[in-house]
Amino acid sequence: MSASVDVLVRPLVAADLSALDRMERTLFGVSAWSRQMLADELVGPGRTYVGAELPGGSLVGYAGMWFDGRDVQIMTVATDPGYQGRGIARRMLVTLLDRARELRAESVLLEVRVDNAPAIHLYESLGFTQLGRRRGYYQPENVDAWTMQLLLPRGTGAQEEER
Ligand SMILES: CC(C)(COP(=O)(O)OP(=O)(O)OC[C@H]1O[C@@H](n2cnc3c(N)ncnc32)[C@H](O)[C@@H]1OP(=O)(O)O)[C@@H](O)C(=O)NCCC(=O)NCCS
Repeated sequence: MSASVDVLVRPLVAADLSALDRMERTLFGVSAWSRQMLADELVGPGRTYVGAELPGGSLVGYAGMWFDGRDVQIMTVATDPGYQGRGIARRMLVTLLDRARELRAESVLLEVRVDNAPAIHLYESLGFTQLGRRRGYYQPENVDAWTMQLLLPRGTGAQEEER
């Protein structure tokens, strides 16, 4: 890994949409969400989206989750290609996992392409395990997904101890 970089992980706002749209198309190609989908996601029910901002103000990463009242689904995580391998995605995910614990979610779920080794390593290093394989989940490329899960045991967190 390259030297880590000093980023601020903060909530995303509508003013971030142009930067998000640019990174989304670079990173996800034919599967990229449209600008409108990104805009809808930022304000969708139960959503928490964060971005990683450089000291100069540029956005170099984003990640989001959806809490349905019981479980959290990781919706996306992405780091600008020029800033990958510096711990940015890990920091964004740790922020989201902290939020999931605050919400007292039972588990965190996600899907990842079976050929996405960097992402799989990242999720495993955070404690996620493989639940199952979804055939042809990613279209039009027709690539399978692993479904991964992180259980968040209740009653063991700092919040519980404070009661
Ligand atoms: C997956 C992705 C978000 C990782 O972002 P990142 O900021 O580079 O990740 P980090 O620097 O925080 O790396 C964290 C861990 O990821 C893994 N990792 C990152 N890059 C890797 C690589 N090239 N090869 C193998 N593992 C890698 C390592 O386990 C690393 O752990 P370490 O800290 O022990 O080295 C980034 O590669 C990306 O944006 N990819 C395109 C979008 C995408 O595929 N998103 C996931 C959709 S499910």
